Amino acid sequence: MNIDIFKVEEWMNEYEKYSKYDLGNTTVNTMSLEELFAVTEENKDEFFKKLCSLKQGYGHIKGNPELKKSIAKLYKTVEPEHVLTAIGAAGANHLVFYSLVEPSDRVVSLIPTYQQLYSIPASFCSDTVVLKLKKENGFLPDLEELKDLITPNTKLICINNPNNPTGALMPLCMLEQIAQIADKAGAYILCDEVYRGLSPDEAKIPSMADIYEKGISVCSMSKTFSLAGLRLGWIACRDIEALESFTRHREYNMISCSVTDELLAALALKNADKIIKRNCDAVRQSLEVLDKWVCTQKHFSYVKPQAGTTAMVYYDFDMPSEILCDRLAKEKGVFLTPGCCFEEENCFRVGFCKSPDVLQKGLDKISEFVKENISMKE
Ligand SMILES: Cc1ncc(COP(=O)(O)O)c(C=O)c1O
Repeated sequence: MNIDIFKVEEWMNEYEKYSKYDLGNTTVNTMSLEELFAVTEENKDEFFKKLCSLKQGYGHIKGNPELKKSIAKLYKTVEPEHVLTAIGAAGANHLVFYSLVEPSDRVVSLIPTYQQLYSIPASFCSDTVVLKLKKENGFLPDLEELKDLITPNTKLICINNPNNPTGALMPLCMLEQIAQIADKAGAYILCDEVYRGLSPDEAKIPSMADIYEKGISVCSMSKTFSLAGLRLGWIACRDIEALESFTRHREYNMISCSVTDELLAALALKNADKIIKRNCDAVRQSLEVLDKWVCTQKHFSYVKPQAGTTAMVYYDFDMPSEILCDRLAKEKGVFLTPGCCFEEENCFRVGFCKSPDVLQKGLDKISEFVKENISMKE
């Protein structure tokens, strides 16, 4: 089946090799297992003894019960039986689309966002429509525009909160209004929440799975918990019909998740608060560096991110974002993601949760490039 090129992933695969200053990845100081044990203060020897004695079968088909218990605790109303593990949030999103959406259904997505959320449905469902989030609205959706896109055949509304790439955060009242709009049409909401929990002020971010019966929360170990290598994500949803459909489709494409990954994820999530605190500190510190830099730049501006690990930085000179990011990578060793990967121009995405030193050096290299190539010509 034909599907659009996944622009961000292709770009990252190609340009990661130039990343002396990695402002491309959207993770938060990814942890080694050594660091995981240090941060959680769990007993490493005991854990590995248990792991070594464990038979490497398929494990618990619907997910390790301890892990599901810890996942449920990240929500207010979700019970362990409402949780299904998946291969990353990427696998979870995929499972949701293929389980719920028929080719004749309408899917509404908000862009810019992670491309899965519109290109997967568009690949098999011709009535996939997008609502553009505007910079002048702080990248929050215009709900009147959203209402206009809802038709009787709307099956799914896809949102991403906090948003990648803009760092915008929809407040509770807005999430509730979106739930009301969906409810009127009997539609599900898929809320990709992989950056949930990551905010500079450690504010609790509400989940769509708690707000709306037909709300589907997709999340993973990759961003909020700095363990992307586990390839462990999940779906949390209280709607039993949807859960049954996810379970039925999941048998066909994965059977179960890795027993080892689930065990490590269970250990990490038992200590979720410690890891979230570590990562919110990192978000706060690196956002301060980014904000100071943007505020002192003549050619750059942005909507300051409220949460998550990414920001869209706009520039006022005439250069396609792909060319700018290609040159910054090859000439200055700065790895960024061009706006064109998100259907936006005159901007690039910064994954700002790096060590403040790397972030500062990378940003200084961008200033140097502009001084040499733009300011000199003015
Ligand atoms: C919004 C969003 N959803 C899903 C994913 C995929 O996450 P995972 O590594 O858990 O598959 C990403 C990765 O960048 C993302 O930014």
